Amino acid sequence: MKLLVTGGAGYIGSVTSRLLLDAGHEVTVLDNLSTGFREAVAPDATFVQADIADAGSVLTPQAGFDAVVHFAGLIAAGESMSKPELYWDHNLVRSLALLDAIRAAGVPRVVFSSTAAVYGNPTELPITEAAVKAPTSTYGATKLAFDLALTSETFAHRLAAVSLRYFNVAGALIRPDGTAIGERHDPETHLIPIALQVAAGKREKLQLFGDDYPTDDGTCVRDYIHVEDLARAHLLALDAATPGEHKIYNLGNGNGFSNRQVAEVAREVTGAELPVEIAPRRDGDPASLVASSQRARDELGWTPEKNTLTDMIGDAWAFYRSHVA
Ligand SMILES: NC(=O)c1ccc[n+]([C@@H]2O[C@H](COP(=O)([O-])OP(=O)(O)OC[C@H]3O[C@@H](n4cnc5c(N)ncnc54)[C@H](O)[C@@H]3O)[C@@H](O)[C@H]2O)c1
Repeated sequence: MKLLVTGGAGYIGSVTSRLLLDAGHEVTVLDNLSTGFREAVAPDATFVQADIADAGSVLTPQAGFDAVVHFAGLIAAGESMSKPELYWDHNLVRSLALLDAIRAAGVPRVVFSSTAAVYGNPTELPITEAAVKAPTSTYGATKLAFDLALTSETFAHRLAAVSLRYFNVAGALIRPDGTAIGERHDPETHLIPIALQVAAGKREKLQLFGDDYPTDDGTCVRDYIHVEDLARAHLLALDAATPGEHKIYNLGNGNGFSNRQVAEVAREVTGAELPVEIAPRRDGDPASLVASSQRARDELGWTPEKNTLTDMIGDAWAFYRSHVA
């Protein structure tokens, strides 16, 4: 397929682009480099530095794209609460402009990066796609809004759309030549890369927010998914996309890991002391978020293979040492 990958200079988009190219697809990356890195773009991809709001210049009817894989967006839930206008603009308004361009060019398929944040505080675990959607952050709300826009688009214009709702993405893609492609966010808000910054001596200590939650060790439990497993799901989603349908899949590995477990495995992997400080709970942090990905397993034939924290933190550490430290 001829594919436009938005956000292909970012973490998940750069990893997925590699797997798409490996599978024989033709990839054009469109990214404004607001949080991404030019050098992260897959070398065999065509690169266009542009905003998704201007995607119409690339997505012309003559260009003949078969699908858009839409990763571009702003991702920090905390920031979305202090700058909601920024998140509505990037994640909804500009994404709607992209959708206009997709329609005008007659692109038949879209795969979209949605998020577990659309569910908010779950009433039942594991979280299925049927769970109540009540986002507790503006970030989650903007993602849910674009999901709903995709649903309307499939009904009205027979678009084939798939939303993939990622839980906590971690790890790095290790290429056959040993090079690693991984996560660099600034500021970093994700627990594993922050733990690695502490291990590398770039931060003094790892703060864990709350140790009095109703979980086995009192710290919050999250579902982590290896970025390589996640990227593979996008290839399956492209094949499963069906005109007139909006298919939605949760992607997690179904096993929760506590914050303390993350700290412990990061210690084992890096050999660093990794001092931990228990800080007060943060507002709106649910005790446990664990996905049911049964639908993705049943319908896409997707199975996560790199399931352990050692896999994820080990690969993330390989990337960190080669690119960041
Ligand atoms: N990282 C996670 O754990 C996680 C979890 C759930 C969902 N997601 C979703 O996955 C997607 C990718 O996340 P990531 O971790 O790779 O983030 P990232 O910040 O590494 O990548 C996002 C990319 O999009 C680009 N971008 C942002 N706004 C743009 C715009 N208006 N026009 C063009 N390019 C733009 C950035 O330059 C960057 O390269 C996001 O949509 C995010 O909401 C991520």
